[in-house]
Amino acid sequence: MAVVPYKEKETGKKEQVAEMFNNISKRYDFLNHFLSLGIDILWRKKAIRLLKKDQPKQILDVATGTGDFAIEALALNPDRIVGVDISSGMLEMGRQKMKKKGVDHIIDMQMGDSEKLLFDDNTFDAAIVAFGVRNFENLKKGLSDMCRVLNTGGKIVVIEFSRPRRFPMKQLYNFYFKSILPIIGKVISKDQSAYTYLPESVEAFPDGQDFLDILTEVGFKNVECIPLTFGISSIYIGQK
Ligand SMILES: C[S@@+](CC[C@H](N)C(=O)[O-])C[C@H]1O[C@@H](n2cnc3c(N)ncnc32)[C@H](O)[C@@H]1O
Repeated sequence: MAVVPYKEKETGKKEQVAEMFNNISKRYDFLNHFLSLGIDILWRKKAIRLLKKDQPKQILDVATGTGDFAIEALALNPDRIVGVDISSGMLEMGRQKMKKKGVDHIIDMQMGDSEKLLFDDNTFDAAIVAFGVRNFENLKKGLSDMCRVLNTGGKIVVIEFSRPRRFPMKQLYNFYFKSILPIIGKVISKDQSAYTYLPESVEAFPDGQDFLDILTEVGFKNVECIPLTFGISSIYIGQK
């Protein structure tokens, strides 16, 4: 059974995920940085640095949300970044942000589903996704479509939460993620389920070697996992 935000509803995971992010879109950026104490910003920067020597010119940011990973990717000096997401609310917040920053001529925020990307094969030099893959309805389909639209030799860079395995980080993490975060998240986001869904979806996600095996299965090679901050998150990298 897929982990979904609203267990009482009969709609599928994709619909529920879009609904949840529409509900929290206005408070998403604040909550993200507040609940992670700003560490999420450092994780995105580190992930983007891994692409520095490749100098990708055409970049696809899947599950772009409000576009924070796309903004970090500007450090690579690309010609174009396309951000796709299934949540119109998140995209709207993102578009406003791009305009305000004066980067809307480089970052193009589009409605789009990772599992059915509307781009030709071999279109992008790099594909990136931060905190998105855990939310895919069909993980393998999403990753293999990202592989399809990459040029041969192009890289995928994924950031996703993972589960620390060692004492005392494992215990601290469980306490924070399961007891503190859902309460603060619920009060600020005003969504009953979004921050209960977060730890549940992390728990169900195939992290570490399991994720590397999936990357290999859908067509990536030279796969690698870089754990971040005691294993709370991980960067995964692979090449088409
Ligand atoms: C936690 S947010 C991450 C946003 C952004 N990447 C960041 O780093 O802050 C996850 C995003 O994934 C999007 N998403 C989930 N499933 C998707 C799919 N199948 N295709 C495209 N976007 C998807 C959600 O709508 C949401 O905006």
